[in-house]
Amino acid sequence: MAEIALRSADVADAAAIARLHVAVWRQTYRDLAPREAFTALDERYRLEKWREKLSRPQADQLVLLAEQENRLVGMGAAGAPSDDAFGGRGEIKFLYVDQAVKRQGIGRHLLRHLAMHLAERRYPGAALSVVEGNRAAAAFYQALGARVIGRQVDPGPIWRSHNIIMAWDALDGLPRQP
Ligand SMILES: CC(C)(COP(=O)(O)OP(=O)(O)OC[C@H]1O[C@@H](n2cnc3c(N)ncnc32)[C@H](O)[C@@H]1OP(=O)(O)O)[C@@H](O)C(=O)NCCC(=O)NCCS
Repeated sequence: MAEIALRSADVADAAAIARLHVAVWRQTYRDLAPREAFTALDERYRLEKWREKLSRPQADQLVLLAEQENRLVGMGAAGAPSDDAFGGRGEIKFLYVDQAVKRQGIGRHLLRHLAMHLAERRYPGAALSVVEGNRAAAAFYQALGARVIGRQVDPGPIWRSHNIIMAWDALDGLPRQP
C-alpha cells in the first residue's frame, strides 16, 4: 500500500472533504437514512458546512486528513463534546474512509492521532455517536477498545437518527490493537 500522510485540514480543503464525506455517507447510510436526507445532504450542503467549520473552528477542533499520493482517502475530526451524554470526554466526529481503501488501517491511524490531540487538550477520554444499524462502524470502534455508554437521538433538522454512544475512558494506548 502507498504511504498514508496525515495533515490538518484548512478551508482550501473544503471541496475535497465535502466530496469524500458525501460519497462515503451515501454508501454507509443507503439502507438506514430517509430519502429526504439523501437529497438534502448533498455536496453543496456539505461544502457550505465544511467551509464554515474550517474558517471558524470550534473549541479544540482538529480536522485531520489522510492522503495517499496527494489524494484524499480518509478524514476525521476531534474537539470539545457537543453533548452532555459524552461525560466531558473529547468528541470524535466525521471519521470516513474511502471505500476503495477500507480495512487497510487508515481508520485506526486517524483515530490514534485524533486521540493524541484530545490527550494534548487534557480530555479524560473520547466519545462518539454511531447511528444504530451502522454495525460495521460499531464493530470497528469496539475492536479498538470502545464500549457503549448510552444512547442519543440526533436533534438535527434533517434526520433525527437514533444513535449509540461509544467511549474510551483513557486516551493513552488508544486505539487498542485488535
Ligand atoms: C468505520 C471506518 C472508519 C473504519 O476504517 P477502516 O480504515 O476501514 O478500518 P481499519 O482498517 O483501521 O480497521 C481496524 C480494525 O477495526 C475492525 N474493523 C474495521 N472494519 C470493520 C468491519 N467492517 N467489521 C468488523 N470489524 C471491523 C477490525 O478489527 C480492523 O482490524 P483488521 O482489519 O486487522 O481486522 C470505515 O470503514 C468507514 O469509513 N466506514 C464508513 C463511514 C462510517 O461509518 N464512519 C463512522 C461513522 S460513526
